[in-house]
Amino acid sequence: MNKQWTIIEQYASVLKNTQLKELFIEDVDRAEYFTVTLSHAYVDYSRQRINRQLRQELCTFAREIGLRDAFNGMMHGNIMNSTEQRSVLHTALRAPKEKQIKVNGNDIIPEIHAVLERIRAFSASIRSGEIKGYTGKSFTDIVNIGIGGSDLGPNMVCNALKFYSRRDLRMHFVSNVDPTHLIETLHQCSPDTTLFIISSKTFTTEETMTNAHAAKQWFLDNGGASWELHACAVSANLEKTSAFGIPHERVFGFWDWVGGRYSVWSAIGISIAISLGYDHFESFLAGAHSMDMHMAESVEEDNIPIMLGLIDVMNAMCFDIRSHAIIPYDEYLRMFPAFLQQMIMESNGKSVSKDGHELAHHTSPIIWGQPGTDAQHSFFQLLHQGTEQVNTEFIVCACPLNPIDDMHERLLANCAAQSAALMHGKTKQEVIQELSQTSNVDQQHSLIPHKIFPGNRPSTTIMLKELHPFSLGWLIALYEHRTFVQGYVWDICSYDQWGVELGKVLAKQLLPAVKDSTLLSGIEDSSTQHFLSTMHAFRS
Ligand code: F6P
Repeated sequence: MNKQWTIIEQYASVLKNTQLKELFIEDVDRAEYFTVTLSHAYVDYSRQRINRQLRQELCTFAREIGLRDAFNGMMHGNIMNSTEQRSVLHTALRAPKEKQIKVNGNDIIPEIHAVLERIRAFSASIRSGEIKGYTGKSFTDIVNIGIGGSDLGPNMVCNALKFYSRRDLRMHFVSNVDPTHLIETLHQCSPDTTLFIISSKTFTTEETMTNAHAAKQWFLDNGGASWELHACAVSANLEKTSAFGIPHERVFGFWDWVGGRYSVWSAIGISIAISLGYDHFESFLAGAHSMDMHMAESVEEDNIPIMLGLIDVMNAMCFDIRSHAIIPYDEYLRMFPAFLQQMIMESNGKSVSKDGHELAHHTSPIIWGQPGTDAQHSFFQLLHQGTEQVNTEFIVCACPLNPIDDMHERLLANCAAQSAALMHGKTKQEVIQELSQTSNVDQQHSLIPHKIFPGNRPSTTIMLKELHPFSLGWLIALYEHRTFVQGYVWDICSYDQWGVELGKVLAKQLLPAVKDSTLLSGIEDSSTQHFLSTMHAFRS
């Protein structure tokens, strides 16, 4: 952290002891000053610990460390994934045809658009029924088999944009190696009308390959023939896809410069194109591209991902807030928190710097959440009165896609009320005043501390005009760039994920002893050994 960061820490330490609601009294234009309104979206960070001076200091910091230059470098192919020596080019996946982006001297835009063209043709043929199964019937069920980024992105987006989907094409996503996931999915499918998409960049991921083999077996065991008509793959590993019986022309490529959690814009999004139609997929890419341009070109003061990303950093480093709740007030966005968990925590859940030094500061917050208003009746108690400080993010749409009476207005009222309640709280005086209106004041006295809301809890609100492919693409890219900002400031490599390796390796080593109790003696760790011997006893 440079000297400018020390200045930020000083301002932040003053704000740490200031009530958020006082900031609105000090600065009457605060609500306007700390919001950004675009034609399709509104972002309000006025309820975060920030004031005009601090915002200026943050912008100076961003300029001093070359944040936007680094982002532009990433967009042009600089090696940002330093531990794997790779470019990080998910932004190229949504760049227009006329752009030129070079990796190792080759312009990658033509290859990207060639794959997009194939996705367009394939998805159109599935939707029209031109591509059929082995009995000549059109497909009714599409089963995507993948995990992590090869599942969460397309799964979340297909659910979020279901309003625009073809209801006679049912989308399914199988990720868990727990066979229940596959079995319960296949109960809804018939082999002659089911298309499997095996989505795996590496085509070696254990869960995906185990599910893929089991799905193929189910298909063959249930009268299926001509597997090659019922499968396609999204992968960078052509050798493995062809060994699995998927013809070359049914494989949609993707590249090592796309990280799994940033891959929804690549052929990994083919299920989105099938479900919504290619034009909607294109609009989804366009929304993300508009955010790329905003991040690349907007001055720091107006730059949404830069401001929100720096606020995230301050929350972790200056205000000891290490829990970040994502609360979409939108049923279609139910999976959004789970999607962001991978994006943010797999990217920035690190504790060493790019050059391998242990960091002296906190990095990624814990990302969690579920839709409002369900969450209100679940964990909001802790948000309002718990001891843990949580940064809460509200996401809501102004216009409903499915209006019934005043239901959407009720949803909006709840969203607005919760962020206001988190900031204002309820003072002792207000509680006493409230209780004085009841007949039994003495009896109620003991309730006073229980009814106080400390307030002063930060939140951000993002409102989309409407949930649409363009606005969803824009929203996801906003979080991607915010994640970039965090990682860049923390000096960590946001684009590798070594932390997922150890467990994978150990699971492989333990599998023989899980299957065969005579091998238990070879396990050194007594805790694991005890767990497995009890498991064998239960199963015998
Ligand atoms: O969990 C680790 C990870 O590598 C993720 O980053 C990735 O999204 C997922 O596994 C799936 O990988 P693949 O697409 O290669 O099957």
